[in-house]
Amino acid sequence: MDSLQTIKQRFGIIGNNVVLNRAIEKAIQVAPTDISVLVIGESGVGKEFFPKIIHNQSARKHNAYIAVNCGAIPEGTIDSELFGHEKGAFTGATQARKGYFEVADGGTIFLDEVGELPLSTQIRLLRILESGEFMKVGSSELQKTNVRIVAATNVKLKEAVEKAKFREDLYYRLNTIQIDIPPLRERKEDINLLFRKFASDFANKYRMPHIELSPEAQNYIANYPWPGNIRQLRNFAEQVSVVEKERVISLEKIMELLPHSSTMLTVTNKKDKNSSDFMERELLFKVLLDMKKDLNDLRALTLDLIKHKDNEEFNGSTQELIQRVYQEQDEDEHDFTPSSYNLVPAANAPKPTYQPPQYDYSDDVYDVSPIEEPESLSLQDNEKEMIKLALEKHKGKRKMAADELGISERTLYRKIKQYHL
Ligand SMILES: Nc1ncnc2c1ncn2[C@@H]1O[C@H](COP(=O)(O)OP(=O)(O)OP(=O)(O)O)[C@@H](O)[C@H]1O
Ligand SMILES: [Mg+2]
Repeated sequence: MDSLQTIKQRFGIIGNNVVLNRAIEKAIQVAPTDISVLVIGESGVGKEFFPKIIHNQSARKHNAYIAVNCGAIPEGTIDSELFGHEKGAFTGATQARKGYFEVADGGTIFLDEVGELPLSTQIRLLRILESGEFMKVGSSELQKTNVRIVAATNVKLKEAVEKAKFREDLYYRLNTIQIDIPPLRERKEDINLLFRKFASDFANKYRMPHIELSPEAQNYIANYPWPGNIRQLRNFAEQVSVVEKERVISLEKIMELLPHSSTMLTVTNKKDKNSSDFMERELLFKVLLDMKKDLNDLRALTLDLIKHKDNEEFNGSTQELIQRVYQEQDEDEHDFTPSSYNLVPAANAPKPTYQPPQYDYSDDVYDVSPIEEPESLSLQDNEKEMIKLALEKHKGKRKMAADELGISERTLYRKIKQYHL
């Protein structure tokens, strides 16, 4: 078993990130077994090193190593490619052909983009994993093979399982050991190391002097999100090495070549967030306004209750009083839509049977503003006076007067009738 450093050197893996180191160590550790391994990571993170390391560090290393890109083979031919076919199995099958699983007997197969395998092929693969058995396309003869499988995916295979696009049993079979490769943005410390390595490779390749980044430019690339990971960084290093005349690359130049898309993303999100904040505020404002109106109605109703508590006319139960309020509402002929809709029963609804608790109001302090009670006048007189003033001020316009008084138009209408105004 080789050491981490030896492996890195042999495969040209750059970087000292702990998570990456741990992933490599895990590969070295599981290599001598025949256990299936699933390598997971975003596109361009370097997944392809791992099946090679595993093969190289296993007893299979002198046998075949075959890498198959499952996403690149058409659905119609994938079974034939993997498992082979008999002569005449399908139109154009003029000769029998061995599949990769037969060729790689005793070796390793790397199934890249395994999530792309069609469901029918997944069944065949599961059988190989469970018993080592397979059948060529167009054959009924069982064959045996001994192949170690390392698979890789940059899609969330678990989600594919949930969507029934990937067999759950196969997922668990492949995933006996999982190796996660971190994206480049999570190994910032490696970014400039990788850039220097790539820049040096391209300087040699194109026989040009080295390029170098200014400290600000180094800082910029270290914080860039690199959605295409190391592949993107490598291409970028090549582009800068070849295109730029200056050998010291400034921050401005880097920003020009590598606009910070994530900043743009943040700005867009912020805009969206602002507009949703605005809508939320508007909604809240409306709710508060409605609540205020309801509260005013409730105040007026409470005021009524207080006023009529000792009134001979309403000496009956408070229940009657409430019913009277509702009835008056029914009698209102105007087309005004009450704001206190939740107090108004539907036209055919039964009369309320609500039994209010019997309060002793004597010691309680009620804030019935804006209909306040000055000491010199009775509550009723004061109320009448205020309504009169408000109506005069708004030239009889009930809606405006009600607004000013902080009561609903319905309540005002009732008061006008009550006080014969
Ligand atoms: N740590 C590293 N040091 C040096 N080169 C690296 C490193 N990681 C990745 N690379 C290089 O980056 C390129 C992309 O890596 P690789 O092809 O393994 O990506 P991948 O994870 O298989 O992506 P995809 O899912 O798109 O196939 C390759 O040229 C590889 O050599
Ligand atoms: Mg790949």
